[in-house]
Order: sequence, then structure tokens, then C-alpha cells
Amino acid sequence: MKLTGEVVLITGGAAGLGRALVDRFVAEGAKVAVLDKSAERLRQMESDHGDKVVGIVGDVRSLQDQKQAADRCVAKFGKIDTLIPNAGIWDYNMSLVDLPEDRIDAAFDEVFHINVKGYIHAVKACLPALVASRGSVICTISNAGFYPNGGGPLYTATKHAVVGLVRELAFELAPYVRVNGVAPGGINTDLRGPSSLGMSDQSISALPLGELLASVLPIGRMPAIEEYTGAYVFFATRGDSVPATGALLNYDGGMGVRGLFSAVGGKDLLEKLNIK
Ligand SMILES: NC(=O)c1ccc[n+]([C@@H]2O[C@H](COP(=O)([O-])OP(=O)(O)OC[C@H]3O[C@@H](n4cnc5c(N)ncnc54)[C@H](O)[C@@H]3O)[C@@H](O)[C@H]2O)c1
Repeated sequence: MKLTGEVVLITGGAAGLGRALVDRFVAEGAKVAVLDKSAERLRQMESDHGDKVVGIVGDVRSLQDQKQAADRCVAKFGKIDTLIPNAGIWDYNMSLVDLPEDRIDAAFDEVFHINVKGYIHAVKACLPALVASRGSVICTISNAGFYPNGGGPLYTATKHAVVGLVRELAFELAPYVRVNGVAPGGINTDLRGPSSLGMSDQSISALPLGELLASVLPIGRMPAIEEYTGAYVFFATRGDSVPATGALLNYDGGMGVRGLFSAVGGKDLLEKLNIK
């Protein structure tokens, strides 16, 4: 176990990628605190993992809730070694032309509040504990932090903003706290949309994401959710990742190395090399 004795705080850890991270970090020997708005899912997590985890009900938009989560984590486990700002919402690729004029303000504020200010709140609330532990922050970004068409202008702008946040905070918090980012691609989760656009009941799991991505990604399929967790373990493992700060890992099945005409440049490699 790579993370025995380490303490991790994850926002949005009661479902989706965050929940897979909880399971992985517990399996690696860490204790995990989770701030999430879903009391029911937090209860489920606590019943699955017992006293290795603690759930705190709250909204990442509230600095008070984030401070309460940091305090509860320190009270229960004594410290915070790794913070993972992760809670987010998606705009379902709502294009600028389709964005209703009368909802731009509310939608912008909602998506940026959760996806960007929620991350700033998390780091602000955990900063004393992170400096004391000489800890690290690992921000969940997205392929939309680097490329178009992983969201509409609102989501894409928030994820690009998180890239900037990682770089700025890596600079500002050095040499005490390292700050890195992991940018996953499509994942079959319960990712929701903004209520200001009437999308809070939409779940990305209703889309045929696996089918769509299989033909687009150089790796030839959408990764399983658990396959996304290893990068976070790497960045949290003190021994392996000390040189990494301000690092951004594209972890999306190769979206940045697709060809012009085909996603898979080596599709005839087996034939040419006579390998089965
Ligand atoms: N699903 C994808 O295809 C995908 C791809 C790339 C990046 N991401 C990113 O991964 C992260 C996690 O998303 P997911 O796909 O696991 O979604 P998810 O909806 O399955 O999980 C998100 C969790 O965050 C919680 N949450 C949402 N808003 C909150 C708030 N205001 N306060 C507190 N908790 C809140 C939800 O209750 C949920 O438990 C997000 O930052 C998302 O942008 C997702």
C-alpha cells in the first residue's frame, strides 16, 4: 500500500470519479474525508468503508462548508496531506448560439462558482493544514481544459481556468505545497448540468459515451472509471512525485494525438508486423 498513514480530502467524492478515488485511496492505505452535497451517498460511502472515511455534507460554493470539511478532516484524522478539488458540473456542450440570452448570467455564475470558485474555496480552507503537512493539491481538470468540444464555452472556460489555477498556486504555495492537475477524458458517471439551464436532472450516464469515444480515442475505448485513479495516487505519493508541481497530466485516452483522418494511426500494425 503506497499511502499508508496519509490523509486525503476530496470534494465531490460521494459519486463518480470522486467515489472511485475514495475506494482507491482507502485501498492504498489512506484515510479519506469527503465534502459532498449528497447526504445519502455519503452515508453509503461510510457504510462501505467504516472509520477509514468521513463524509461531510455541504456545498463547495460555500467557503464556510469547505472550512467545516477541513476542520472535520483534521479533527478526525489529525491532518490533511492531499486535497483533491473535484466536484464539478458539465454544460452538456451547450453552444454559445444556443445559450439563451436571459440565462447567460445565471449559467456563467453557476458553472464558474462550482467548477472554479469551488476549487479556490477548497484550497483556501485547507491551506493551513496543507502547509503544516507539506502536502499537495491535485485538481481534477478535464480534456476540456486543453481542447474544444469537451463542453460548451462555459464548461471549457472553467476547465481552462483550472489549468491557470494549478500553475498560479504551484508558484504561490512553493516550496511548502505542491499543486498538480489530472485531466481525465470521458467517464461513465452521474455528471449533472447547471440548474440555471434546467439540466440538473440530466446525467452524462444517459449518453452513449462509450460508443462515441471508442471511435475517437487513440486507445480505442473509453477507460473504466477505476483506470483513472492511478494518476492521483502517483501525485499523492510523496516519494514518487516530489519533482512534480505545476504539472498537468493529459489522461484522456490520447485526445491530443488523434490524426486528421483516423484516431488510430497504427491500426494495421499487427498485420504489418505479423503479430496476433
Ligand atoms: N464524467 C466525465 O466524462 C468527466 C470527464 C472529464 C472530467 N470530469 C470531471 O470530473 C469531476 C467529477 O465529475 P464526475 O463525472 O465524477 O461527476 P458526478 O456527478 O458523478 O460526481 C460529482 C460529485 O460532486 C458532487 N457535487 C456536485 N456539485 C456539488 C456542489 N456544489 N457541492 C458539493 N458537491 C457537489 C455530486 O453530488 C457528486 O457526488 C468534475 O470536475 C468533472 O468536470 C468528468
